[in-house]
Amino acid sequence: MFPTVIAPSLLACDFGKLNEEVLRAQNAGADWLHLDVMDGHFVDNISFGPAFVAASAAVAEIPVDTHLMVSRPDHYFPRFAESSANITIHVESLCDVGATLAEIRKSNCTCGLSLRPATPFEAVEPYLDKIDLLLVMTVEPGFGGQSFMPEMLEKVRQGLAMRSRRRLSFRIEVDGGINQETAKLSIEAGADALVAGTSLFRAADMAAAIRTMRGNGVM
Ligand code: DX5
Ligand code: ZN
Repeated sequence: MFPTVIAPSLLACDFGKLNEEVLRAQNAGADWLHLDVMDGHFVDNISFGPAFVAASAAVAEIPVDTHLMVSRPDHYFPRFAESSANITIHVESLCDVGATLAEIRKSNCTCGLSLRPATPFEAVEPYLDKIDLLLVMTVEPGFGGQSFMPEMLEKVRQGLAMRSRRRLSFRIEVDGGINQETAKLSIEAGADALVAGTSLFRAADMAAAIRTMRGNGVM
């Protein structure tokens, strides 16, 4: 339905060289930049806030895909709206999810909805006609460098089935432990947006890694 997009996660970049790292990803052919915002409450880690996202967006010419792992995305999303093309919130967060998604769209961003590994697919079903992107977490959110959970591919398949059954058009994104092998499995299951931090920022040749991941290169 959509061409596959590759979204390197800046969580794995060298924060001391933010501008260079943004340009490195962009020049390597990244389609989007993925920005992981963590509040130390929704997840057991604190990453960065609006100023960091704005600084990244100021350098980037590609869309910024902001993933809010925060308990109150309704309160905080406006601070990211100007620098983000897409804002994804979690279905488990402590807010009125439907109202917050609507507010995000009103702010001229597309909106995404994500679910933790332990959350059943049914939790996102009521919102599928209100989103532009479904983000299936393939690790427990909070840290980069974890191992992909293959059983999460079932949620990707459910998203794909529900999207065609209900004639909807949200993208399906996977996030966590994505490398060449798990990217292939995710694309086969129906994912059309792949977030990858460690495997891309640590690649010897990021451009080749992105091409291969997208399915154009030689595996
Ligand atoms: C995890 C974040 C991910 C993370 C992915 O909570 O949502 O975006 O940066 O990192 P890797 O690709 O290293 O698993
Ligand atoms: Zn993320």
